[in-house]
Amino acid sequence: MLIEKNAASLKMNESFTLRYRNDIYFGSNILEDSLREVMKVLKCRRVLIITGKKSAKISGALDRTVKVLQELNIDYEHVDYVLPNPSLSIAEQVLDRCISYKPETIIAIGGGSVIDTAKVVSAAYFSNMRIIDIFRGEQPKGKIPLVAVNLTHGSGTEADRYAVITDESTRIKKGLASEVFYPTYSIDDPTLTLTLPRNQTAYTSIDALYHCIESSSSIMSSPFTRVLAVDSMFKIFEYLPRAYIDGSDLEARYWLLYASLLGGICIDNSRTHIVHAVEHAISGLRPDIPHGLGLAVIGPRLIGYVYSKVPDKFLIFREFIPDLKLRSDEHRRVEFFLKYVSEQYGVEPRLSSLGLGKDDIKQIVRLTIESSSHLLALCPCKITEEDIEKILFELV
Ligand SMILES: [Fe+2]
Repeated sequence: MLIEKNAASLKMNESFTLRYRNDIYFGSNILEDSLREVMKVLKCRRVLIITGKKSAKISGALDRTVKVLQELNIDYEHVDYVLPNPSLSIAEQVLDRCISYKPETIIAIGGGSVIDTAKVVSAAYFSNMRIIDIFRGEQPKGKIPLVAVNLTHGSGTEADRYAVITDESTRIKKGLASEVFYPTYSIDDPTLTLTLPRNQTAYTSIDALYHCIESSSSIMSSPFTRVLAVDSMFKIFEYLPRAYIDGSDLEARYWLLYASLLGGICIDNSRTHIVHAVEHAISGLRPDIPHGLGLAVIGPRLIGYVYSKVPDKFLIFREFIPDLKLRSDEHRRVEFFLKYVSEQYGVEPRLSSLGLGKDDIKQIVRLTIESSSHLLALCPCKITEEDIEKILFELV
C-alpha cells in the first residue's frame, strides 16, 4: 500500500530545473540523471566528495553518486568528517585534503553544514587562500565547480550565497557571504530526505520557516520575498505534520524540500535578522544544539517582540491568523502561534530546555553583537543589547 502511495506521488510530483543564480535540479529520483548531465558538462576526471559521518550513507546518496562516477570512469576521494555547525578547523582540514588530491570538482552530499563547508573549501582552494582568510573578511576570487547534493529540507544553502562557519576557538559563528558561494549546480531530490530522523525533520523545516518569517520582515524584504515566503510557509504548515508522523511520505518530503528551496531564495534576497543573529550566538557557544532547535526555542518570543514594535512589517501572518489587525497589542497572539508550532514538534521554547541558564546570557549577547551585528541592523525595529538580554532572561 505504501509503495502504491509513493508511486502515485511520483507521478504527481513534477521534476524541473530552476534557473536561479545557479541551475537547481529538482524532483524525485533525479539524482543519477542530473549528476550524469552535470559531470558531462563539467568534463571533470577527479572529484572530491565531501560528506558528514552518516547521512550520505543512510540516505543512499553516497552509493548512488559513486555508482554514477564509476560508470563515467571518474576518479574520486571521499572525506566524511564534517560535523553539524561546521568548524573552521574541520574546513581547514578538508582544504588540506583538497590541496593534496587536486580535484577538478567538489561534490558535497549533505545538509547545510556539509554544503557550507564545501562552499568555503572550493573557494579557498581556487583562490589560493586559507579558510581563516575568508572568515576574516577577505573575498575569494572564484571557486572550482561545486555540485551540492542536498539531503535536508531546511538550510536553503543550495540556492544562496552564504556559508555559516564557527571559529571554535572564539565561539564566533559567522554567516559568510560571497557571490562565489552559489554552488555551480544543486540537486534537490526528495527521495534523499526520506531517512531524515524525526527530530531533524522538524528542526530543518523550522529553520526554513524562520528564513521565511525573517526575510519577509527584514528591512530588505520585497513583494517578491513575501510571496515566496507565504507559499513556503503554507507548505511547511501543511506537510511538516505529515512528514513528522510518517518520514517515508514522499509527497510531504517533496513539498518540504520545495518550501526550503523557496526559503533559501528568500534569505538570498532579503536575509534574516534578530532570530538568526541570536541563534548563531547560541549554537556558536554550544555547537551540539541543532540550528533549527535553537530557532524554535528563541523565535516565538523574539518575533513577538519585533511584532510589538512594527506590526505592519508582518503582513504575512494575516495569511495564517486571518483576523490579525496588525496592531502592537496583538504581539502575544503571534508569539503563541509560533510557540504552538515549536511545541507541536516537542520543543519547549525555554532556554533551560537547551541546558542554558542565566549565567550564559551575557556571553550569548556578547557573541550576538560580535558575530551578527550586520543581521541586527536588518531588523525592522531598533533592538539594543539590553533588549536582547531582557528577552533572554524572560526565556530562561
Ligand atoms: Fe537558518
